[in-house]
Amino acid sequence: MPQPLTDPPVRLKVEHLTRAFGGSPVVNDVSLEVAPGQVTCLLGPSGCGKSTTLRMIAGVERPDSGRIAIDGRIVCEGSLFLPPEARSVGLMFQDFALFPHLTVAQNVAFGLRGPREEKMRRVDDLLERVNLSGYGPKHPHQLSGGEQQRVALARALAPRPRVMLMDEPFSGLDNRLRDGIRDTTLEILKEEGAAVLLVTHEPDEALRMGDEIALMRAGRIVQRGSPYNVYNAPVDRAAAAFFSDVNVIRGVSRGALTDTPFGEFLTPGHPDGAEVEIVIRPQHLKIDFDRGGRGPNPTPADGAAARGTVVRARFLGRESLVEFAMDGDGSRLTASVPNVFLPRPGTALWLMIRRDRCFVFAARH
Ligand SMILES: Nc1ncnc2c1ncn2[C@@H]1O[C@H](COP(=O)(O)OP(=O)(O)OP(=O)(O)O)[C@@H](O)[C@H]1O
Ligand SMILES: [Mg+2]
Repeated sequence: MPQPLTDPPVRLKVEHLTRAFGGSPVVNDVSLEVAPGQVTCLLGPSGCGKSTTLRMIAGVERPDSGRIAIDGRIVCEGSLFLPPEARSVGLMFQDFALFPHLTVAQNVAFGLRGPREEKMRRVDDLLERVNLSGYGPKHPHQLSGGEQQRVALARALAPRPRVMLMDEPFSGLDNRLRDGIRDTTLEILKEEGAAVLLVTHEPDEALRMGDEIALMRAGRIVQRGSPYNVYNAPVDRAAAAFFSDVNVIRGVSRGALTDTPFGEFLTPGHPDGAEVEIVIRPQHLKIDFDRGGRGPNPTPADGAAARGTVVRARFLGRESLVEFAMDGDGSRLTASVPNVFLPRPGTALWLMIRRDRCFVFAARH
């Protein structure tokens, strides 16, 4: 018999979660779902309410309203409020503290119940998976920061939590260490099949770790989607600007077209006379050389070229950033170029804009 089509199971379901401090809402009508084995990154600027959301899901902070369910069982709604230990959640925070007087093995075994042999087997298995086999008898002070982090991960995972809540867990680590630990962590979380909600204010971390990104601003989730979609189809200018610097070209829409120094842009859905903002990331500006006052010919993909003068060029390692003052109106645009491209200030160059990489929004006032 053919199997009926079903929605993917939801492990964590959060509905209309709200919390105010001193009268002002800090978490405002937040809803999200996470499936087993899925990582959702709650991403947003400092103070937008990420940790407060996580703390309510963990059961260490009471919401004013809203509902939280884990595997279909309500753990928080109205006067019902299960404590953290009754929710099957694992927690990992930035300032994770291992118990200094316990060995690594005892730390990992801390939340485990049951027969000793079984516990030891689970501890050995987890230590092997975080590449710390043989570290069991050591004490935390004998470990590097990265090793301690991996012990904390093993400890959080040991009781097989259904939901893993992580609040900026990698921010205490130096850059080089961080990438390796992120990848190891992700691998283990996937194997364990927990639903993971990871809080971060770093877009790169969210893009790297998340199956889904929930972008949060001022207490609300403003966009949810795959990293690819959130990056490539931002809901507004601020959502685009959260992931990289952006250039903004302003214009007025007429007949669903907006005229700019780079030619006409399609701006459907914007009424005649409406001010629009064409937003483009620096890596989607193309640079061309000046040929005695002339630039490249217009193309359908890149529109017309406009000339500018280099104001500043900076080498950033993987890429160079070149800032321009545009001939027409003196407006500033920044292009990023892979590798080393460091034209001298004062050099005239031509810029083109990749049409398929532009976002058009109504202008903000
Ligand atoms: N217990 C509290 N009492 C009063 N205000 C609080 C409390 N906890 C958090 N806030 C306020 O709520 C807002 C959101 O805090 P929260 O810790 O959730 O932000 P965040 O998104 O995690 O920020 P960050 O990235 O800096 O960690 C902040 O303005 C904070 O000052
Ligand atoms: Mg926080």
